[in-house]
Amino acid sequence: MQYNLLMKKCIDLAKQGEGLTSPNPLVGCIVLDKDGNEISNGYHHKYGENHAERDALLKLHNGEEKGGTLIVNLEPCSHFGKTPPCADLIIERGIKKVVIGMQDVNPIVAGNGIRKLKKAGIEVIENVLADECKILNEIFIKNMIKQEVFVAIKTATTLDGKIATYNGSSKWITSENSREEVKKIRNRYDAIMTTSSTILADNPTMQHRKKIILDRTLKTNLESPIYKNGEIYLFNESLDMFEGGINFIKSPIKNNKLDLKFILKKAYELGIKSILVESGGHLNGEILKYTDKIYHFIAPKITGDNNSLSCFNFQQIDNINDSYNFKIAQTDIFGPDILLTYYPILK
Ligand SMILES: NC(=O)c1ccc[n+]([C@@H]2O[C@H](COP(=O)([O-])OP(=O)(O)OC[C@H]3O[C@@H](n4cnc5c(N)ncnc54)[C@H](OP(=O)(O)O)[C@@H]3O)[C@@H](O)[C@H]2O)c1
Repeated sequence: MQYNLLMKKCIDLAKQGEGLTSPNPLVGCIVLDKDGNEISNGYHHKYGENHAERDALLKLHNGEEKGGTLIVNLEPCSHFGKTPPCADLIIERGIKKVVIGMQDVNPIVAGNGIRKLKKAGIEVIENVLADECKILNEIFIKNMIKQEVFVAIKTATTLDGKIATYNGSSKWITSENSREEVKKIRNRYDAIMTTSSTILADNPTMQHRKKIILDRTLKTNLESPIYKNGEIYLFNESLDMFEGGINFIKSPIKNNKLDLKFILKKAYELGIKSILVESGGHLNGEILKYTDKIYHFIAPKITGDNNSLSCFNFQQIDNINDSYNFKIAQTDIFGPDILLTYYPILK
């Protein structure tokens, strides 16, 4: 049987949990009866709630899954966490075959779920659409393997790579379709990060659950719209306290700027597992070396002005071979604009 299409459907089911499962992975599951008919599906809705396999199996009450197949994008768990082990439930329910997208990278699970299933006489097929499954859970994978926050940048530019004119005029470079897509991208990340300069130039609202703001000397107005919703983590050089609903966090200074390494480590310790950076070229550039992924919207416009602000502005190089290199993973179209999604190529 060809399982690619069913695995693709598991990935789509899993995506319904975007923004709600962190620090857990996104997981979707389909159950087939012994004749190969789909009889149930499910997904991990929210952190602390049932895993996808349990969500799908608990919808079945008459044993129709006995002798059937279960398809899931991540290896079933074998340990007691917030819920009992999914591998045990799969065995109990008499499933005969389990099709898995990728092995879990969580050291408590890695391989143990598969071994448990095989020991119970279940046939296990692994690595179905493994690459797509890894992209789906790229945040979880980085968190588990490196114990570090996943960092993505979103930028919106003209064809000549500009994010604003020389005097900061930037509304709007991209179309409404692109800006709607940005809201969906934001939702995948635990927090967004922006800067004093961007707040002073654009006075944005940036609706989100958690916001990290970099403002070394606290020059932004705390009454600005950006401070009016979500949990605020305001990194600065002097204050370390919680006041007026704002977490002021004192950061060390490096080269006259807030120390990004400290900030990213601190964010991870605070339970922020992924960050979407939405700032201008200075922070985009400085944070590039810590960045895992870039969403680059490009509008079909040219400012034609070298003094317009660039999306990455942080270094001077003599040799073009000293540029940062990336691999373009995906291109999409939103109205008149394109979205390039790309990943750094590690040197
Ligand atoms: N089109 C887009 O996608 C987009 C998105 C956002 C913004 N923008 C535009 O970008 C323009 C601002 O760009 P910008 O390049 O001038 O500013 P930026 O990159 O947004 O912010 C730079 C500021 O961030 C703070 N910062 C703190 N730690 C830093 C670090 N380690 N490295 C770098 N910066 C650090 C510094 O201010 P402190 O010293 O106060 O901490 C610094 O001056 C605005 O005109 C805005 O409209 C465009």
